[in-house]
Amino acid sequence: MSQKQNTFFIGKVLHHCHELHSTNEFALDLIAKNNPIEGTVVTADFQTAGRGQLNNSWESAAGQNLLISIILFPHFLTPKHQFILNQVVSLGLNDCVGQFVSKKVTIKWSNDCYIENKKVAGVLIQNSLTSKMIQSSVIGIGLNVNQQLFTSNAPNPTSFSLEMNQQFELANIRDTLCYFIEKWYLKLKAGHRDLIQKKYIESLYLYQENAPYRDNNGVVFNGIIQGVDDIGRLLIQTNQGLKRYSFKEVQFLHG
Ligand code: BTN
Repeated sequence: MSQKQNTFFIGKVLHHCHELHSTNEFALDLIAKNNPIEGTVVTADFQTAGRGQLNNSWESAAGQNLLISIILFPHFLTPKHQFILNQVVSLGLNDCVGQFVSKKVTIKWSNDCYIENKKVAGVLIQNSLTSKMIQSSVIGIGLNVNQQLFTSNAPNPTSFSLEMNQQFELANIRDTLCYFIEKWYLKLKAGHRDLIQKKYIESLYLYQENAPYRDNNGVVFNGIIQGVDDIGRLLIQTNQGLKRYSFKEVQFLHG
């Protein structure tokens, strides 16, 4: 299925490069120098310096996966509300993966995409903020599609191909991803924040399941994910009550 014809603005301008340092870096450079229109997309077959979360690099074999950055200008969002952009992107990514993979797809907080217990995609969002609003946002997504062998030390990688035993056409997946991210972004613009929050929470990996975690002090505990607050902290019910964790403050031990 291709959704290319169905977007209003995401992917209407597309820069595809054979090789780049990083699609996010290229997109940031476009914003700085070229006045791109909202929805401009950058893709590459290969990145020589693909960036992941926490200063990690992002592994992707040449020509096998989707490496994409989408430029947005969410001026209607204040810096305080920037987490909702992560939620929008995660929901679009989950919908896209669900079109191609007939297994359980979830969002591992805060915005990894999981197929059962394995990571199929990661998201790196780079926002430029003023005191009042998000000036620009580069939504970088690495989605593992046809790669079958992973050599880096990234934990639990998988791909569409490993899960479904077939090869996929990358352009089709790109267009479907643009379609679903736009769908959720337009819901955000239309003010459906409660729906986004509810759907994101229900889609969380290990939502309402008892599972082990480790906190920053090395303490291992069991808890049950209850949701996230509006700045994106993870809420876990533990024996000691409801705990809130910011990014990097808690590690999942399940899976
Ligand atoms: C993560 O660590 O989970 C986030 C990985 C994000 C990787 C993508 S690949 C396309 C885009 N360009 C980059 O340099 N990084 C993101």
